[in-house]
Amino acid sequence: MDPGLPDLTGTVALVTGAGGGIGAGIAGRFAAAGAAVVVHHLTSAERAEAVVAGIVADGGRAVAARADVTDPDQCAALAGVAVKWFGRLDTVVAAAGVQPVAALAGMGVEEWRAVVDTNLTGTFATVQAAAEVMAGGSITLVASIEGRRSARGHAHYAASKAGVLMLARSAALEYGPAGIRVNSVSPGLVHRDGLDEAWPDGVDAWRRSAPLGRLGEPSDVGDACVFLASPMARWITGHDLVVDGGMAVAPSW
Ligand SMILES: NC(=O)c1ccc[n+]([C@@H]2O[C@H](COP(=O)([O-])OP(=O)(O)OC[C@H]3O[C@@H](n4cnc5c(N)ncnc54)[C@H](OP(=O)(O)O)[C@@H]3O)[C@@H](O)[C@H]2O)c1
Repeated sequence: MDPGLPDLTGTVALVTGAGGGIGAGIAGRFAAAGAAVVVHHLTSAERAEAVVAGIVADGGRAVAARADVTDPDQCAALAGVAVKWFGRLDTVVAAAGVQPVAALAGMGVEEWRAVVDTNLTGTFATVQAAAEVMAGGSITLVASIEGRRSARGHAHYAASKAGVLMLARSAALEYGPAGIRVNSVSPGLVHRDGLDEAWPDGVDAWRRSAPLGRLGEPSDVGDACVFLASPMARWITGHDLVVDGGMAVAPSW
């Protein structure tokens, strides 16, 4: 337990894409706040099991579960895992997503569909399935600052994340009467192993431009998600929380 976090003991969180970098960080922060965690993955079973093992080693409760979020039936089964293992589902963080780079000119419709299917339709299916089994609680969708600002090679990705922003607002509107709050977080560039080597110019430009002078860490996004799931955010729904070290206010000239 991290005394710096709100106490989520007794609650159950499902984090999708938790075999990935940011999702794993989010899962870890929910566990550190005392929540039992369903650690979702698609192909990263080994990494998801490592996240579970880390949580259990620290005295927490967690289970790994596989699902393809583009399949609504698998999303329903995934929500059922939380109920089966821990008896309830209070919080969902939808972090599963893909981020390929492709120029708009020449982009095949299958490339477009693959991104929109996973990032937007998969998030829709996750929200719908989760809300079916939740009795109140909180859902947070991981969008991106690219949902508001375009980036070269990311037309499909940015469009999908803009859709996620409106999905969160629409879900907040429709699920509010059921006591389910729905928000989004929009991370900026988050550190992962090998990023500095793979994209040195971009990372360097980010560090120079961002008011806080660094890339994000998965835990920075995780703590924002824990806040939105906590009683401290009890009157916050339909909000997009930008978590970007201030990049959104940095002048581009
Ligand atoms: N990295 C950044 O700087 C950044 C910035 C802003 C927003 N984001 C967003 O944050 C989220 C996490 O990003 P990340 O950098 O941590 O990426 P990541 O390491 O690639 O993690 C994303 C995870 O999504 C899962 N996934 C992909 N397609 C799926 C599908 N059809 N069904 C189920 N799971 C699927 C993958 O699971 P498996 O590995 O198990 O197959 C993958 O581990 C994404 O939504 C991304 O768009 C990232």
